Amino acid sequence: MPTVFPELTDDVIDRMKGASPRMHEVMTLLIRHLHSFVREAALTQDEWRAGIDFLTRTGQMCSDSRQEFILLSDILGVSMLVDAVEHQSADKGVTDSTVLGPFYAGPQRELGQGESILLREEDGEPLVMRGHVADPDGQPIVDAKVEVWQTATNQLYDVQDENQPHGHLRATFRTDGQGKYEFRTILPVSYPIPDDGPAGQLLRALGRHPFRPAHVHFMISAPSYRQLVTHLFLKGDEYLDSDAVFGVKPSLVVEPVKRDGLSTITYNFVLARVQER
Ligand code: BEZ
Ligand code: FE
Repeated sequence: MPTVFPELTDDVIDRMKGASPRMHEVMTLLIRHLHSFVREAALTQDEWRAGIDFLTRTGQMCSDSRQEFILLSDILGVSMLVDAVEHQSADKGVTDSTVLGPFYAGPQRELGQGESILLREEDGEPLVMRGHVADPDGQPIVDAKVEVWQTATNQLYDVQDENQPHGHLRATFRTDGQGKYEFRTILPVSYPIPDDGPAGQLLRALGRHPFRPAHVHFMISAPSYRQLVTHLFLKGDEYLDSDAVFGVKPSLVVEPVKRDGLSTITYNFVLARVQER
């Protein structure tokens, strides 16, 4: 079949002479793929209008506390793909990364080794999370910043729920002289991503559910190392194979074991050195 209106694509690309080299490269690819999409899908005017309306509503849903475009990127697998492309040359043994998600809330209170991240009682099962942070040679990273956050048992983060104390179930720890971290929390639960906007409408139109498997978020930073953004997921969760945002990697699935009578997850993180990129 002949290509419809091929000179239009070349004309749009030819008019970017003032663009920087990277801008030119990225926009050339974007225009070629976008035009190919319109041709291959034989997009109708009505479908084009519906797409514009969808993106308009996505923008209108955004606010200081809601980023619907990132949610859209997440449910279409784009966020995980960008992460994979950026980490494709990571050293063997470096801990896998996954999506940041919209519920990281910036600097959070710092607690001492072994303290609890709860600010009120929860009916979840108590859990100890512990382990160490090391470099790819196994050397401990001392004073690494370990930021953690998770939902309450009602499936909501503190920032989504005015009934939770601000800072509940999130905190920052520092690794000790042997690179160790330890804190107390509760077993995380699976929960739905915010699905009351265009991203949720799209999920329903595709026959998909909005759930993420139970997880605890980690963001680990130390000078001279690449910041690690990841989660630990619970083995056995019913949504491990159908995470709404495609964030699960087998190496991040863990199973608590009883230790001194308490459910305990021991997980050792490995950070890449900055020059290893
Ligand atoms: C989260 O795990 O917090 C999350 C990630 C992506 C989209 C929504 C929520
Ligand atoms: Fe989460």
